[in-house]
Amino acid sequence: MERSLVLVKPDGVQRALIGEVIARLERRGLRLVAAKFIQVSKQLAETHYAIHKGKAFYEGLISYITSAPVMAMVWEGPNAIAAIRQTMGSTRPTEAAPGSLRHDFALEVGRNLTHASDSVENGASEVALWFKPEELVNWNREIDEWIFEK
Ligand code: RTP
Ligand code: MG
Repeated sequence: MERSLVLVKPDGVQRALIGEVIARLERRGLRLVAAKFIQVSKQLAETHYAIHKGKAFYEGLISYITSAPVMAMVWEGPNAIAAIRQTMGSTRPTEAAPGSLRHDFALEVGRNLTHASDSVENGASEVALWFKPEELVNWNREIDEWIFEK
């Protein structure tokens, strides 16, 4: 079972799209593991986006993610990394597939609404960065056998 950090970024929160993002992930069959609504500190933003340090868009990215609250979540499921990124759409909204969130709700890469982990390894490390172990809920969802093959 793969796990991904999912963020509804400040633009998604300001535009009242938290419910839309959650609805699409739920409807897809992914299972919610944790959620919290927080103001991101500069320190957390810099750790989360350390890989982008030095790039031209880095400073703008840090001010974007710290500009208003975010909805931080953990979602899991088989192939969760690929499935969630597909539901989000490509990083650049004009390259995102029709029907994806970024296609349907965004125009610019610097206002692309969501974050999702890009690999199983980064999913695990991002979940550990954003959530304490006791914030992750292990639960049995009654419909799982109709969504997860095993
Ligand atoms: P994310 O991490 O947010 O899920 O998005 P991603 O993997 O599709 O994109 P990534 O390459 O990790 O970039 C992280 C975020 O930085 C902003 N960005 N701006 N101006 C630019 O060229 C540029 N490139 C990336 C986006 O907000 C992107 O989601
Ligand atoms: Mg990324």
